Amino acid sequence: MTSQPSPRFSPRIRTLDKSEWPDWMEVFQEAFNQEFPPERNARFEAVMEFDRTLGAFDGDRLVGTTVGSSFSMTVPGGPRPVCGVTGVAVLPSHRRRGVLSSLMRRQLADLHENGEALAALYASEAGIYGRYGYGRGVDNLFFRIPRHGARLAPHAPSDPALRVRVEKPATVREELEKVFEAVRPTRPGQYARNHERWNVLLADDETARRGNGPLRCVIAEDDAGVRGYALFRVKSQFTDHDVPDGEVMLMELFAVDPAAYALVWSQVLDRDLCSSVYAWNRPADDPVIHLLAEPRHLNAGWLDEMWIRVVDVERAMPERAYSAAADVVIEVEDPVCPWNEGRWRLSCDREGATWSRTTDPADVSLPVSVLGAAYLGGRPLGTYHSAGVADEHRRGALRELSAAMLWDIAPWGGLVF
Ligand SMILES: CC(C)(COP(=O)(O)OP(=O)(O)OC[C@H]1O[C@@H](n2cnc3c(N)ncnc32)[C@H](O)[C@@H]1OP(=O)(O)O)[C@@H](O)C(=O)NCCC(=O)NCCS
Repeated sequence: MTSQPSPRFSPRIRTLDKSEWPDWMEVFQEAFNQEFPPERNARFEAVMEFDRTLGAFDGDRLVGTTVGSSFSMTVPGGPRPVCGVTGVAVLPSHRRRGVLSSLMRRQLADLHENGEALAALYASEAGIYGRYGYGRGVDNLFFRIPRHGARLAPHAPSDPALRVRVEKPATVREELEKVFEAVRPTRPGQYARNHERWNVLLADDETARRGNGPLRCVIAEDDAGVRGYALFRVKSQFTDHDVPDGEVMLMELFAVDPAAYALVWSQVLDRDLCSSVYAWNRPADDPVIHLLAEPRHLNAGWLDEMWIRVVDVERAMPERAYSAAADVVIEVEDPVCPWNEGRWRLSCDREGATWSRTTDPADVSLPVSVLGAAYLGGRPLGTYHSAGVADEHRRGALRELSAAMLWDIAPWGGLVF
């Protein structure tokens, strides 16, 4: 039996006050089928920017929400302000009546009015946000490496000056932050973490553990200081016959140079009483692929990670760096943000870029979601042509644009916001 669809309606939308946090939490937990303990709620509340929340109301009842977070995110060329969209939830009683659409449109209009050029989000389901002009800008890998396949290749770099230290994560927080700050500018998608975000990463109560062991940390250092670290939990278990069968659940691993990177990985891969390592969110070009003696043992799978929205093409497109020269007229389709629509000329080389309105005929036409997908530099554009999403009117123009927008390090956010 199918039920009648409920009529669409236009909710009243406004910014939420901090005092409405319990209502926000109620909608969020109901929509996500979750019940969070107070300590988790407190971590959430600490990262909330209440002046960037939006609530959708049916009468006095809060029925839908979206939240913005102010990030400084690395894009090709350096850090840029990005609105991290999160906390998107609609009460089951009001779903599929247009509440999300109203919230998304309002949020994008607000961002534009505030002069914000880019938004990013992690989607609960990949089918939701393309309709609002978000493009799948980042892929991630998840993998489960069995211990027997975890040997590093003979060419794996090493440095006799390096040594390993085991520490409680909270006690070396400053050193972890230093390593992260050194790595952050090198990969598009990485964003600056404030104190509260580090608290989220280092949280170690029962909800953060999810049935696994405590948060553990190994660091690689030399006399000058820490050069790399891994944060992980161990799911300690034994088979019926008492054979050790633990699993390392890798949370985060960063290093400032290849030898430290290899050393930290070797610690994670060769943990006593563990038979596998599970990493659920790694960059698509994780160098560990080239460090393993037999990389097929990665048993890798692949998912969408961040979705990127170019809110304002006029601001965003000349603000990033380009890998090659291009001179291309792009017809942008963007019914959700009509200020982006029309024909624009991108003229760029490795020194800089201009982006201006033009009446010249288009070389390529594409939806704004494709610019979002390619913005962080991880998406060749030919695939959109093959899929019938982008059109080329001048032979070679899409390839020219693609070569200019690609970057040599794959984008990746890592810590889900
Ligand atoms: C996902 C969610 C926010 C959608 O809200 P909603 O108010 O029902 O969405 P709308 O009615 O505005 O739907 C807008 C469009 O998105 C589509 N859509 C909604 N949810 C979708 C989903 N999960 N997958 C694919 N399409 C979806 C609708 O079919 C509709 O399509 P149309 O424009 O072609 O008609 C809501 O169902 C929800 O809170 N889900 C659980 C929590 C969640 O996943 N939140 C998102 C976190 S990133």
